[in-house]
Order: sequence, then structure tokens, then C-alpha cells
Amino acid sequence: MNQQLAERLRFLRAFAANPRQVGAILPTSRQAVRDMLDLGDVPGARLVVELGAGTGSQTAEILARMAPDARLIALEIDPRLAQVLKERFDDPRLEVVVDSAENLEQHLGEEKADVLVCALPFTSLEPGLRRRILDAMPAVLAPHGVATVIQYSPFIQNELRRRFPSVRRRISPLNVPPAFLFACSLQADAGEATAV
Ligand SMILES: C[S@@+](CC[C@H](N)C(=O)[O-])C[C@H]1O[C@@H](n2cnc3c(N)ncnc32)[C@H](O)[C@@H]1O
Repeated sequence: MNQQLAERLRFLRAFAANPRQVGAILPTSRQAVRDMLDLGDVPGARLVVELGAGTGSQTAEILARMAPDARLIALEIDPRLAQVLKERFDDPRLEVVVDSAENLEQHLGEEKADVLVCALPFTSLEPGLRRRILDAMPAVLAPHGVATVIQYSPFIQNELRRRFPSVRRRISPLNVPPAFLFACSLQADAGEATAV
């Protein structure tokens, strides 16, 4: 069985076991991953943090773009998916953390992320959990950093705007379903929200 098919099957199993937590039946497409990562400066980042890494569709592209001495901390709540990540990537720059993204600050200590990559299914998460994760995101972002978020609806846009002075939006039409991508910054002059 090729790697992509095996990845899809593992992802589908995780979805069947916990649909609201996984939030999608397929991993994010390569094109949507690329479109999403183009919104942040991954090659220039010292620390990248990924929320909801799944089977690693974004992890692979982040590692491919990252500098040789940069670090990636990937949080994944599902221990079986975290194990898939550990087996798939033999890369000393990657640390896989099996925990909920709401505990993000604990895992970063005093460090701040230059790029935050978030593929959590906000629409289907319990509201209290969703709020705690959204509150933690600006708290761990470096002043010049960018938080990139992928969703399958614009539902989360207002919540992001409440927390980040700048939220830009674009659509990745070739993903199934088409994906909404957000680039959130703590600097107001990084650009107003624009639909593309
Ligand atoms: C839509 S999938 C995205 C997976 C992968 N990043 C991709 O794009 O294909 C969402 C992922 O978030 C994980 N997840 C859900 N709630 C989480 C939480 N509170 N903390 C960390 N990960 C979580 C799920 O287990 C799942 O792997």
C-alpha cells in the first residue's frame, strides 16, 4: 500500500472514532497546505508550532520549508495519530507533543512562535475548548509572527478578528471541500481582512 493511501486510511479511522475532534474525512490537500504555508515566513522562522498535526500533511511541508536549525513543535491530541507522526518523520527538528492545543503555553514556556499553523476543526469543537485554544494562540505568537489557520467555513473569522489586529483571508479552491485560509498577525499594519 502506498504511503498516501495508508495515511488516508489512518486519518479516516481517526475520523470514524472521533468525528467532531478530527473534523474532516481527508487530510488537507497538498495545494491547500502550500497555499496556507505561503501566508507565513516558514523559511525565516526559528520556531514553528503546529496545532492538530493529524497524519502530517502540513508537518511534511513545514519541515521541507524550515531552516536546518529551526524547530517545529507539533501538538496532536489523538495518541494514535501522534504515533503515526513519530513513525513518519525521523527529523531532529520535530517534537511531537501529545496534548490538547489549549495547553499550548505550557509547552512553549517563555518561547514564542514565529509561525503558528493551525488545522483544528474549530466548528465542531466544544465552545469552551474552542475559546481556550483561540485565547492561547495570540499569547504564544511572536510580535512579528503569523498564525495561519485553515477551516472549511468562514465561521471562525470574527473570533480571529477579536483576538488579532490583522486577519487576512484567502480561499484555496482546489481543496475538497474548498478551504478558507486565514493569516493572523498581532500588528495592525499587516493588512486588513480581505476576501480573495
Ligand atoms: C482537520 S484534522 C487536520 C489534520 C492535519 N493537520 C491535516 O491538515 O490534514 C484536525 C486534527 O486536529 C486534532 N485535534 C482536535 N482537537 C485537538 C486539540 N484540542 N488539540 C490538539 N489537536 C487536536 C485532531 O485529532 C486532528 O488530527
